[in-house]
Amino acid sequence: MREILALGALLVAVPWGFHARAAEPVRARHAMVVTREAHATDAGVAVLRAGGNAVDAAVAVGFALAVTLPAAGNIGGGGFMLLRVTDGRTTFIDFRERAPKKASRDMYLGPDGNPTQDSEAGYRAAGVPGTVRGLELAHRKYGKKPWAGLLAPAVSLARDGFDVSYGLARSLRASRLLARFPESRRIFQRDGAYYEAGERFRQPELAGTLDRIARSGAADFYEGETARKLAAGMVANGGLITLEDLKQYSAVEREPLRGRYRGYEILTAPPPSSGGTGILQMMGVLEKSGYEKHGAGSAASIHFVAETMRRFFAARNTYLADPDYVRVPVAGLLDKRYVAKLRESIDPERATRSSEVSALDPAGYESSETTHYSIVDAQGNAASVTYTINGGYGCGVTAPGLGFLLNNEMDDFTAKPGSPNAAGLVQGEANAIQPGKRPLSSMTPTIVLRDGRLFLVAGSPGSGRIISTVLEVLLNVIDFGMNVRDAVDRPRFHHQWKPDTLFMEPGFSPDTLALLRGRGHNVETVSGIGEAAAILAEGGWLQGAADSRSEGKASGY
Ligand code: DON
Repeated sequence: MREILALGALLVAVPWGFHARAAEPVRARHAMVVTREAHATDAGVAVLRAGGNAVDAAVAVGFALAVTLPAAGNIGGGGFMLLRVTDGRTTFIDFRERAPKKASRDMYLGPDGNPTQDSEAGYRAAGVPGTVRGLELAHRKYGKKPWAGLLAPAVSLARDGFDVSYGLARSLRASRLLARFPESRRIFQRDGAYYEAGERFRQPELAGTLDRIARSGAADFYEGETARKLAAGMVANGGLITLEDLKQYSAVEREPLRGRYRGYEILTAPPPSSGGTGILQMMGVLEKSGYEKHGAGSAASIHFVAETMRRFFAARNTYLADPDYVRVPVAGLLDKRYVAKLRESIDPERATRSSEVSALDPAGYESSETTHYSIVDAQGNAASVTYTINGGYGCGVTAPGLGFLLNNEMDDFTAKPGSPNAAGLVQGEANAIQPGKRPLSSMTPTIVLRDGRLFLVAGSPGSGRIISTVLEVLLNVIDFGMNVRDAVDRPRFHHQWKPDTLFMEPGFSPDTLALLRGRGHNVETVSGIGEAAAILAEGGWLQGAADSRSEGKASGY
């Protein structure tokens, strides 16, 4: 039942007993940028103020983060951009990395038949990067400001440097990976001495690379001087990426996935992301379950959502993969009857053991480190972008002479069916390595519409936890009436089928944990499930929230 709270003379309806903490989001009338790093947010806002649109700002932010957030921001990785323009057009730009031509199914198995660390660190872990092609494609089709100007903030942040934040200093100090590779050690650690917060950090090689991309576009990265140096570094160090792989890399536009939840329209990520399929399947299970009546953060609601997650992840790991290589049964996985079967299989009082859950066959129903940023411009165009080099600082390798880190996205493939990858995901045959294939992703840039108008833009890093993070942010807003600040900051939980563990952030009450254990969950407390970046459009205002788990910044005008 809805409770009515008397607040002075105001009557405020609070859905399902949730009492908002009312932490304040950043508010702006016209436009908003939310990213994980302040210089990047400022670069995006400057583009918007100068009349650029959301895509222009997304390009400027993408390149700025490649300088100021080296753990995740990148030109050596890949990602997804979900766009909605005010005339109603929507598109999904897929610039996910691809396996090099020389890659093969069992390339990461050692002599004992078990996965080695090669998919996680070093030259052999890198997939063919897609970011520069993706940002160029987005700009060519949907941007309006000149390309070179959008790279200018990144070039000067790299050339003139910027002051290292507390978080960046801590992150560089903590990375054992960077220390293993001489070029990375030289650039990010000044030969073993760590950068301290407040010190100036300059990246001249990266400035040179960005400057060439500003002048020659993606052609430099994929066919020009950058391509030649990158390919030469690969040959010299046992990597797989060739000049041919770079030349042949293309970013592609795909139809976003669409679904409805309680009257809201959800636009989200199609394969090769598993995220959008997950969001829509789990919302389908939840919509008619009545789970929300138990209230946000209650053991009963967490239990039901966690069981929903467990079932989705079983299907994810079996059926989802690159649709250009494998038939992915999305329609079956989202079919009403399939979803109803999943819902019926959930006991509201008891956890099902993961060993008893296997992916329900959809046939027959057919008819650590990443970053997300969200942008809305003054015309109401929205860009929701998640991009990544996978692990923090990717594979640890800085491309010789080029100043940028390479991804370890090859670890998102199944190195061996049934063996967990670095993110702990147990995956199957559909996601096996094949030359040119894109590894299955969990990145879930999402946009929600209400009555055909922009309502919410959201996304997060966190590997498999991304999907749970985005789901919970959406549920917090739609089902529990939270403002976007609260929706992003609330403690989160995550279940991914295997391991059979309910991961919970600190902040839930001990009684709630006890109730969940009583229902049969193996509860484990972990810090940092996702880092959401979200914008809510309501009542003529944009509300922005960078996750308080991070040093992010929301800003607008
Ligand atoms: O595409 C994916 O799902 C992963 N490569 C994302 C990695 C990630 O989010 C790690 N960040 N915390």
